[in-house]
Amino acid sequence: MAFPKIRMRRLRRTPAMRRLVRRTALSVDDFVYPLFVREGQGIRTPIKSMTDCFHFSPDTIASEAAEVAALGIPAVILFGLPDKKDEKGSQAWAEAGVVQRSISQIKKAVPDLLVVTDVCLCEYTDHGHCGVIKDGKVDNDATCELLARMALSHAQAGADIVAPSDMMDGRVKYIREALEENDFQDIAIMSYAAKYASAFYGPFRDAAESAPSFGDRKSYQMDPAESDQAMAEIALDIAEGADIVMVKPALPYLDIICRARRRFDCPIAAYNVSGEYMMLNAAAKAGLLDKDTAMLEMLYSIKRAGADIIITYFAKEAAKLISK
Ligand code: PBG
Repeated sequence: MAFPKIRMRRLRRTPAMRRLVRRTALSVDDFVYPLFVREGQGIRTPIKSMTDCFHFSPDTIASEAAEVAALGIPAVILFGLPDKKDEKGSQAWAEAGVVQRSISQIKKAVPDLLVVTDVCLCEYTDHGHCGVIKDGKVDNDATCELLARMALSHAQAGADIVAPSDMMDGRVKYIREALEENDFQDIAIMSYAAKYASAFYGPFRDAAESAPSFGDRKSYQMDPAESDQAMAEIALDIAEGADIVMVKPALPYLDIICRARRRFDCPIAAYNVSGEYMMLNAAAKAGLLDKDTAMLEMLYSIKRAGADIIITYFAKEAAKLISK
């Protein structure tokens, strides 16, 4: 029953035929677009380390959010750069913090756009670690309490989804309890469940001014060689109350996305991180490959691996291409 009866090329003959049999679809519905907000006014400054990405201020963020919504993208994820950093990262849960004010601006202008917030202390602490330091180490449980305060303050400001990215043990439980106790039972948690200690965050740390001033994040983020541990992390986060679980980065960890898809029923998000984004931008700029085609190929690979949601700096460009 093989050749010549079976000819695989029959179904590849024309664009219409290829479209007809294609089993993976990219949709704008799956995209989340990251936005960076910093203290100040009238800011729309290009980010040096990230092509076509900008720093905004709370007064300029709503018009950018409206543009994102007009492209049909259902959600943005916010990262904040405070004016003042301290040991504990106290601007992270300030009622008038930069993210909190940005949330309300966006919600006023485009109420239907989902606002996701990154919940992590690294942009807010003066040492740049994702938690509080005790005896030279990141203190897990003390950090969880602060993360819960931060997540709650985002919910109070109007966030739809809070997304803890710190990798402390138990933080989803702390956040879920804080939300429940304060009548925010409908706020979803998208946990960065399997987040690896990755070199691909380089451009982001520049953009978010969040590089650690000493050491690295290997005592809390996952070892890149690990796979089973990712399944354990995801299972724990679901048990603690996560609604959506994330694998991050995406491209070097497609096997993890694929395994997670087979094993868990909840929506799976993948973060197509800054280094993946800039790797392609740099190669395209050097004339080494065609940007649009390579971008869609990357996004297809993430979808094909099993992600339901893709957080990507390509969201706006991809949305325009898909709708053509
Ligand atoms: C904060 C955080 C990071 C990213 C998202 N949230 C950086 C880090 O963990 O060092 C990276 C995103 C990207 O590279 O695009 N903890």
